Amino acid sequence: MESYTFITGASSGIGQGTAKLLSETRNLLLHGRDLERLEETRRQCAAHGHNVQLFPYDFQEISTLRDDLTAFLTEKGIRVGEFLHFAGMTEVLPISKTKYSVGLKVMNVNYFSATEIISTLLKKRVNGDALHNIVLIGSMAPVIGIACQPHYGSSKGAIHTLTLSLARELAPAVRVNCISPGTFNTRILQTPFFSPDKDWKSISLIPCSGVEDVAKAARFLLSEDSHYITGQILFVDGGERFLGGGLP
Ligand SMILES: NC(=O)c1ccc[n+]([C@@H]2O[C@H](COP(=O)([O-])OP(=O)(O)OC[C@H]3O[C@@H](n4cnc5c(N)ncnc54)[C@H](OP(=O)(O)O)[C@@H]3O)[C@@H](O)[C@H]2O)c1
Repeated sequence: MESYTFITGASSGIGQGTAKLLSETRNLLLHGRDLERLEETRRQCAAHGHNVQLFPYDFQEISTLRDDLTAFLTEKGIRVGEFLHFAGMTEVLPISKTKYSVGLKVMNVNYFSATEIISTLLKKRVNGDALHNIVLIGSMAPVIGIACQPHYGSSKGAIHTLTLSLARELAPAVRVNCISPGTFNTRILQTPFFSPDKDWKSISLIPCSGVEDVAKAARFLLSEDSHYITGQILFVDGGERFLGGGLP
């Protein structure tokens, strides 16, 4: 069976940029919700001749995710060696206006989808012993605090903690690390709250190239060059967190 790199959130932004970079050397299993944009990522990734499979899924449907992913992998005969969890959503509201039901969606998409997928990929009957590397995506929010995104910040804090917990539990067979990006001007920021006209590139200490800065960090964490690194929260933010973050 051929080994695949599974990337969630590959229909857009950071996940799409990382898929493009990794497609040079890997078979990819790409997740997203929007099928049109996911197909566009597949088109961009196909040039290098490796296999690209699609797994469209809304992670709000969390209760069926394990069974559906198991059925998908079994039917396609796919084994996943590397898992990168980039799917994410936010809700921008003061705490007094938040709703439990929306908070639950944020936790399901950002956090519980990762635990459900990892749990599935560790099942021998589903994935053998193939899984050996996990890269999760966090945020500056758990270390500097970001106003008006209490559920988002908490979900990313949970991801940071999950990274440490799994790095201990799964060593030495699986390395587990987390990339915590600074502000990148992707679809997740496309709400009036985030001032679409703002020059987000100017808010760090080091100029940003774009989502490829995260993609290259992900490629390093998957590579042999990082074989002695696990349980790290790697801030890819050009020093933005020292300035307090660009967000409110
Ligand atoms: N951009 C930043 O400044 C920044 C900073 C720190 C951390 N991050 C994190 O980086 C990750 C990628 O974000 P991005 O900046 O690339 O934003 P993005 O362009 O909005 O991408 C978000 C991805 O998550 C997927 N997604 C959203 N809701 C989903 C749902 N209910 N079920 C399944 N998938 C869903 C989207 O799929 P569809 O588009 O197909 O719906 C898309 O592929 C997120 O976890 C985000 O929290 C971003």
